[in-house]
Amino acid sequence: MNGFVYSIPTTIYFGDDQFDKLGEVVASYGSCVLLTYGGGSIKRTGLYDRIMGLLQAQGLSVIELGGIEPNPRIASVRRGAQMCKEGNVDVVLAVGGGSTIDCSKFICAGAKADRDPWDWFADKTTPIDDALPLVTVLTLAATGSEMDSGGVISNPETHQKEGRGAACLLPKASFLDPQNTYTVPPFQTAAGSADIISHTCETYFSQDKDLYFLDTFMEGLLRTVIKFAPIAMADPANGEARANLMWASSWAINGFADGGKTQAWSVHPMEHELSAFYDITHGLGLAILTPAWMRFVLAKDPDGTLPKLVQFAQNVFGITDPALSDLERANAGIDALQSFFVNDLKLAPTLTAIDIDDEHFEQMAEKACHKNPAIAGFVDLTPQDIVKIYKACQ
Ligand code: NZQ
Ligand code: ZN
Repeated sequence: MNGFVYSIPTTIYFGDDQFDKLGEVVASYGSCVLLTYGGGSIKRTGLYDRIMGLLQAQGLSVIELGGIEPNPRIASVRRGAQMCKEGNVDVVLAVGGGSTIDCSKFICAGAKADRDPWDWFADKTTPIDDALPLVTVLTLAATGSEMDSGGVISNPETHQKEGRGAACLLPKASFLDPQNTYTVPPFQTAAGSADIISHTCETYFSQDKDLYFLDTFMEGLLRTVIKFAPIAMADPANGEARANLMWASSWAINGFADGGKTQAWSVHPMEHELSAFYDITHGLGLAILTPAWMRFVLAKDPDGTLPKLVQFAQNVFGITDPALSDLERANAGIDALQSFFVNDLKLAPTLTAIDIDDEHFEQMAEKACHKNPAIAGFVDLTPQDIVKIYKACQ
């Protein structure tokens, strides 16, 4: 295994009894705040009023950017960065899911830069070395953006959805109150849970010799999401379920589970192309692609992938029947995951079911490789492989 450095300087305030510290924490970064949020859920839930009360109690001046889209657009980043520059903003407070938080990360960087923010995505070697401080209030357990240094931005004009990361984009503090997720509808709860599962799988499925401890950590995380996502869908105000999903969302992607792994993620680049072309919900695309990807890599490189897929079946879904061969166990694990997505989370089973046909498969497959010859992941995937995976999802 490779050595690694692990440092997460984001301070987490977890639970309702921590929430009233929000005003103080934001005020510690300055007196002028840009409050960012999405399409209005925070106004419907009353969270907006609570937050404004906490900010006003500190005498902070607040300007607002609402309307940040799911799959956030570069236009919103540009608008927010301009508002920061014109309003002499000291700190950005993002309230929402991954879309609002991601967009706010690049607003923070854009506020400190003399360039168009899309430059960072058009040429990923363009450095991102400074940003305003970001504080977040998470309202949807899914992306882990509240505790990681990355974000994903869409450019509808060019059909691009691109990610970047930089240490200066890490939130300074994130407020994780599970009660703020009680209003998340069942579909978004399901999609967010599929996203958490995918983040974990992208790291878990590796042919490297890894730390046993990290494998067991990820297996526990997967079992946690599988246990609590259906409960949260059926009983949205179930505090135990919401708390478990929220903390799992952060830990699936905050770098802890990586333990020095360097391999590329496989399913996310394929999904980002679906969202770029069809503006679908990220977690839904992942749920459709993941079982097909597992079946494909198992067939392409059985020797390399079988042991980990058997371990997954056994330790995540409890598939231990001694009458089954290793291959049957691996396939039973994949079937169990697909059944969880479709039957328990009620997510669409195929691309056809969400009206996506094969028109752009070749183009999306090329783009998913980001101009490299292949995705160098659990099993290397060429554009031709990726087309086959998309087709298997029809
Ligand atoms: O916009 P509002 O009105 O707030 O409604 C949102 C939105 O419609 C709603 N919602 C959020 N919290 C709610 C709520 N509705 C009721 N009650 C609440 N408490 O949910 C909808 C989806 O929100 P969004 O922020 O788009 O979802 P998510 O958190 O899944 O974020 C998805 C974005 O994050 C990117 C995805 O690609 C996608 O663009 N990702 C970011 C990552 C990262 N930063 O590390 C990694 C991920 O793999 C992912 O790519
Ligand atoms: Zn994701």
